[in-house]
Amino acid sequence: MQLPNFEFHDLKPAVADFRREVVAGLKASPRRIAPKFFYDAAGSKLFDQITQLEAYYPTRTEIALLKAHGQAMGDLVGRGSALIELGSGSDLKIRTVLDALAPAEYLPLDISGSHLRDAAMGIARDYPDIQVRATCVDYTRQFDLPRMGADVHRVAFYPGSSIGNFEPGQVMELLGWIAHMVGVGGRLLVGVDLKKDEATLKAAYNDPEGVTAAFNQNLLVRMQRELGAELALSAFDHRAFYNEARGRIEMHLLANRPTQIVIDNDCFAFETGEGIHTECSYKYSVDEFISLAALSGFASERVWCDDRQRFSVHCLRANVRG
Ligand code: AVI
Repeated sequence: MQLPNFEFHDLKPAVADFRREVVAGLKASPRRIAPKFFYDAAGSKLFDQITQLEAYYPTRTEIALLKAHGQAMGDLVGRGSALIELGSGSDLKIRTVLDALAPAEYLPLDISGSHLRDAAMGIARDYPDIQVRATCVDYTRQFDLPRMGADVHRVAFYPGSSIGNFEPGQVMELLGWIAHMVGVGGRLLVGVDLKKDEATLKAAYNDPEGVTAAFNQNLLVRMQRELGAELALSAFDHRAFYNEARGRIEMHLLANRPTQIVIDNDCFAFETGEGIHTECSYKYSVDEFISLAALSGFASERVWCDDRQRFSVHCLRANVRG
C-alpha cells in the first residue's frame, strides 16, 4: 500500500557486522554480546510480549506518565516539531505522545526493519497530517537523518529506559549524538527506570511465563540462523539478577553443561556455569541521571515520576553542539 505521508529508509546494518561483533564478543573476557542484537523480528515480538507482563512494570508505568502529563510535555517542547523516536517501541506509547505533541513530522529509528515498517505504516495511515519518515538503522552510530522540513524544531523521544541498556560512558556518547540530532535548544524526552527494591527488579526480568528467557535465548537462535552457528540451545539457561553495587540488572546466558559454539573456523568452549553477558539494564536515581545528562550537554527542564517512584520521564534541553 502506498501512503503519501510515508517514506522508508533502509540503513540496516549488514549481517557481516553482526558476525564481527558476535565473534569479537565471544573472544573477549568476560564474554559479551550487545543487547541491540536481541531485536530481529522474533526478538521485537518477544519484547512486545515482555511489555505486557504483570511483573514488567516499566512500560505501563511510563504509558501512565505520558497519558497524565503528555499535554504538559507538549506545552514545554512545543507543537509542530519533527519528532525523532529512537527505538520504535510500544504503539500505544507513541500514539499517546503523537496525540499530545501533535508533531508535523515523525521520524522513528529502529534496528528491526519489518517491525519498524509495520508500526510506522500504521501510524502514517492513522495520522494523515503527520509526515512519517522511518529509518531502519543502528541509531547508536552516526548517520544522516532523512531530510525534514527546514522550519521545524526537533524533539527526540527515547522511551522505555532503553538508555539503561548502555554503560554510563556510552550514555554520554549517545546523548552527545542526540544533542547533535536535535541541535542547540532542541529537546529530548527520555524515559528512565528508577532504582528500587531488589525483589521488584528481579521479578521484572525473571517472569514465570519464561518470556524474558525466550527473549534472551533468541540471540542464540539468531546466531544459528544468520551466522550458521553450531550450538545446542538447551545447553544455555537464562539468568538475570540485580547487581546492586553497579545499579544494574544483568542478563546472562549460562552453560548448564560443558558445551561449545562454533562459528566458521572459531570454536568457543564453555564449562558448566560459564556464559555470555547479554544485557545490562542500569537503574538511576533522578539526580544521578540529571548529572549524567549535564555531563553530556543537556540541561534538565522537568522530570515527571509516578507516585511509587518507579519510573521517570525527563525533559532535557540541548545546550551545546553535540
Ligand atoms: C529495552 N530495554 C529497556 C529493556 C530493559 O528493561 O532493559 C529490555 C529488556 N530486557 C529484558 N526485559 C526487557
